[in-house]
Amino acid sequence: TNSLKVAIAGLGTVGVGVVKILESHKDLIAARCGRPIEIVAVSASNRARDRGVDISGYQWFDNALDFAEQDNIDLVVELIGGSDGIAKELAQQSLEAGKSFVTANKALIAHHGASLATTAQEAGVALRYEAAVAGGIPIIKAVGEGLAANKMNLIYGILNGTCNYILTQMESTGQGFGDVLAEAQRLGYAEADPTFDVDGIDTAHKLAILSSVAFGTETDFNSIYVEGIRRIEAVDIEYAREIGYRIKLLGLARLGSNGLEQRVHPAMVKLEEPIAQVEDAFNAVVAEGDFIDRTFYQGRGAGEGPTASAVVADIIDIARGHMDAPFFVPASELVKAEPVPM
Ligand code: HSE
Repeated sequence: TNSLKVAIAGLGTVGVGVVKILESHKDLIAARCGRPIEIVAVSASNRARDRGVDISGYQWFDNALDFAEQDNIDLVVELIGGSDGIAKELAQQSLEAGKSFVTANKALIAHHGASLATTAQEAGVALRYEAAVAGGIPIIKAVGEGLAANKMNLIYGILNGTCNYILTQMESTGQGFGDVLAEAQRLGYAEADPTFDVDGIDTAHKLAILSSVAFGTETDFNSIYVEGIRRIEAVDIEYAREIGYRIKLLGLARLGSNGLEQRVHPAMVKLEEPIAQVEDAFNAVVAEGDFIDRTFYQGRGAGEGPTASAVVADIIDIARGHMDAPFFVPASELVKAEPVPM
């Protein structure tokens, strides 16, 4: 058949979500693509774990790197995580073997996006990472395609569901930081290592990717000023509230004549601003372009369903034959912007 044959590496929260969507919406998706999408292979660290989905019909691989040699795999989905190690090897080997690659891995793209995109271009296959930024908000597409007529002035947002959940819960319930973090972990929002969430690193990964898409610059993670929410106390939230503000962890990028300014830190936002009303694990993005003025996007930024939805949207796009990345400029022509010193 002309089905698109997919292999999935990593069967955690998001991987299980992808299996659920592809199986439960099989017919709908086939109709929308004009061809079926078929899971043919999976790999994870633990074969026996009960995940609540039946994976017995897929070929099992102890090592996902073996996907690259399989002729019956068209596309590899990476949901392992980590900027280096197996995720990076899997990306490189899959692309070089002529397989399209879809990932939710923001650390990987923030650090190696440009080189992987070049490899994908050379191999004539697709590299997609809609799920890497703001889960359920199709922001890569919105900025990279929908706003492609504009010169972007500014982009910023709430990009970490865990932090927004913590800040919201601290304000509404008066609970302490630790209790709320544990709940965010239980709900499947937090990273394997939650310090990435609370210290702003996860937001910085996503900001690096967003800036690159918005401004056509190379991802430059290392020049981002990063400060997380660890030092925020209930009293800070209360005080902000009294003077008409709410504290949000924002990632912000702006390309000025003196370079690219990228920063992540807790910020006071006016209560009447739409972004101040964004609660729990929701994310939001504000994007300003020279011909559209200001746009605002909101949606669930973390968790099984929203993240898996973005992964599957990328797979669908590739099944439809859209192989180009939603980008202003090809990977090989991304410019290096001077970082603005913080
Ligand atoms: N840990 C991330 C968050 C998951 O809380 O937003 C989605 O990238």
